Parts: sequence; C-alpha cells; structure tokens
Amino acid sequence: MKSKWRGLLCGASCCAALMLGPKGTAETSTVAATPPMGWNSWNHYAGKIDDATVRAQADAMVSSGMRDAGYVYINIDDTWEGERDAQGVIHPNNKFPDMKGLADYVHGKGLKIGIYSTPGPKTCAKFEGSYGHEEQDAQTYAGWGIDYLKYDLCGLRDMMKNAGSPEAAHKMMLDAYVKMRDALRKTGRPIVYSLCQYGNDAVWQWGASVGGNLWRTTGDISDNYSRMADIGFSQAGLAKYAGPGHWNDPDMLEVGNGRMNTEEYRTHMSLWAILAAPLLAGNDLSTMKPETVALLTNRDVIAIDQDAGGKQGDRVGAEGPMEVWARPLADGSKAVGLFNRHPGPMEMQADFREIGYKGKVKVRDVWAAKDLGAMEAPYRVTVPGHGVVLLRVTP
Ligand code: GAL
Repeated sequence: MKSKWRGLLCGASCCAALMLGPKGTAETSTVAATPPMGWNSWNHYAGKIDDATVRAQADAMVSSGMRDAGYVYINIDDTWEGERDAQGVIHPNNKFPDMKGLADYVHGKGLKIGIYSTPGPKTCAKFEGSYGHEEQDAQTYAGWGIDYLKYDLCGLRDMMKNAGSPEAAHKMMLDAYVKMRDALRKTGRPIVYSLCQYGNDAVWQWGASVGGNLWRTTGDISDNYSRMADIGFSQAGLAKYAGPGHWNDPDMLEVGNGRMNTEEYRTHMSLWAILAAPLLAGNDLSTMKPETVALLTNRDVIAIDQDAGGKQGDRVGAEGPMEVWARPLADGSKAVGLFNRHPGPMEMQADFREIGYKGKVKVRDVWAAKDLGAMEAPYRVTVPGHGVVLLRVTP
C-alpha cells in the first residue's frame, strides 16, 4: 500500500500556505509548523456544548495563562450542526446562534477557532455531515473565520462497507479526505486540517499526502490511566511520519478531568510532549485547580512538545513495566522520559550512553524544575507508580 501512494506523498511542503504579512508582503508559513495547541469541547462536554460555554473557555484560556503558554485553538467538536437551507448552506443549531459572532469573539481574545465535520452524511453523534457539500461547507467555515477543521470519518464508514472491496473502501476514504483538502485550499484561508479516522489503514503513511496536518492514530482516549497509557505507549515506531506541518495525533488531553491522579496526568503530558503530539486540553478551563493549570502550562514541558526541530520521540528501552522514551531536540539536547507503568514506585536508571552521549551531560529534572548538574554515570531515581521522571539532557 505504501508504494501505491508514494507518488502522492509530498510531506511538509504540501502544508505551506501563502499568507499576507503585516505590511501586505507575501510570506510563506507552514500551517501547524509545531503540533497544534488549544482546547477541544468533546472530552468534557461531548454533546453539551454551546456558544456561552465556548466563550467561557476562550475567556479562561486567557485568564488562566494558557494563551500566554502557547495554547491557541478553541475547537468546537461534534453537535454544533443544524439544518441546511434551500441552497444547501449549513447552519448551526440553536446552541450556536451566531457562529461568525462567536469566531469574532474568540479572535478578539488573540485566539483561533476550530470546528468539526465528517465526510459522511452524518457525524458520529448523528448531526449533519459534509457529504456532497464539501466546497460549500469549506466556504461557509472560511466565511465564519474558522481556522481549524477536525474531519471525522464516522458516517462515511457505512458507505465504505458497500464499496465492494477493502481497496475500494480505502480509495473512497482517501478521495473524501482529498476532496475536503481541496475545498479548504480553495477558500484561500489557512485552516489546519485534522484527520480523524482512528489510525486505520496506517494513516501515518498517507495522512500528509491527503493534506492532513495531523491525523488521529488511535480510537478515543478516556480519562483513565489504563486507556491513556495504552494509547500513549502504543505510539512506538511512528516517529518518522511526523514533522512540521504533519503530526501523529494520539488524541486530546484528559488532564484536569479528574479521573487520573497528578502522577498519571504528568505521565500524560510528558508522553504527549515526547511524542510531539498536539496539546488539545479537554477539560473545563473555567474551573481549573491551580494544580491543573500547572500541569497544562509547564513551560519546559511545552518547550519539548513544541520543539522547533519537529522530531517525534520514540521508545529507547523497556523492561517489564518500565519504559524509557527519548526525543531529540533542536539544540542537540534530548528529552528523556523514565516511565513507570507499575502502580507502585520503582527504581529506574538512565544510562545516557544508551541514547548516544559520550562523557558528561547536563541533566535537568523538568517537573521538579531542578538542574541536577553534570553527570557521567547512569542516573538512578525512584519513579512514582504510574509516574514519570522527565529529564532534559544536554551534551
Ligand atoms: C469520534 C471522535 C471523537 C469525537 C466524537 C464526536 O469519532 O473520535 O474525538 O469527535 O466522534 O462525535
């Protein structure tokens, strides 16, 4: 399958969009040059999302300091869709009386806004999809000022079942993603294109070729350690498919939703940062405890996630429930995560020679915000149950 689509692959260059700079000069910028950061309504609100709640989340993204830490997108997931009018134009349902007004409000806060649809006739929550209206919908989104589209396979899956063969079903899916890519491009507005089809058919091999700036690599996350860890630690081997403008997406964050403890949420953030994953908070930003804000806005962790080198990390060692993951960073340093998947504490050891360093390295414990100094010998540390020690190692 890989060779079949090789001709279509164009990587990051596909994702460049021409924009006008501040003085009207043309400049090329890459959409999603680093993994998108923001908030999405689904994990916390699911179908109970409306205009007032979205505005409150935008307010809270600013007042909590998340915007200043790098979070940008306020993304409305499924259940905003209403009916089409006689001309086929989609309108929001009565939970969203004025989508353009909402987008203006979000933009007025220095943020961007995202929306959700499906290439099928109906979304997962059985609302109106874009099937047969792709260009019209893209134009409508651009007219509202939308900056990000999550395009969820959902309703198209039923049609794919009748495609006749797995190859035909695969082609139907690719054609559908290409169709919306072209429709978005035609608007002339830079819109992040987020593919959601749960990692089927090794999407990482062709996601960029259909214009995806990110693609979900798994089914849905939920707010418990076992599901988060299953997803996060299953990402080994995918690093080579990610880079500026095209990212693997192991799903949105559950930090702050309450069913994991602090160590587990730290694992969640650390692993997502090493994976160069999008950081889309999925909690209620308007009622966050200081502890949640601290988890989401840790500058050193965000710097790892947003590293300009755009290289995803990978597993470099594992023994029983202990896993070591490392991510190369643009300045020659590496983020190293010592993860303990066991519920109780474990003694772990990081041997920096095993990740390519010779001689002394400078080591910083990221969550402890502590420089540990220069060291040559392996570093031994007790890692809490389900927890992590995240290091930044500099030669
Ligand atoms: C699922 C998707 C979720 C959410 C939901 C909305 O398919 O994976 O992230 O978007 O649909 O109905």
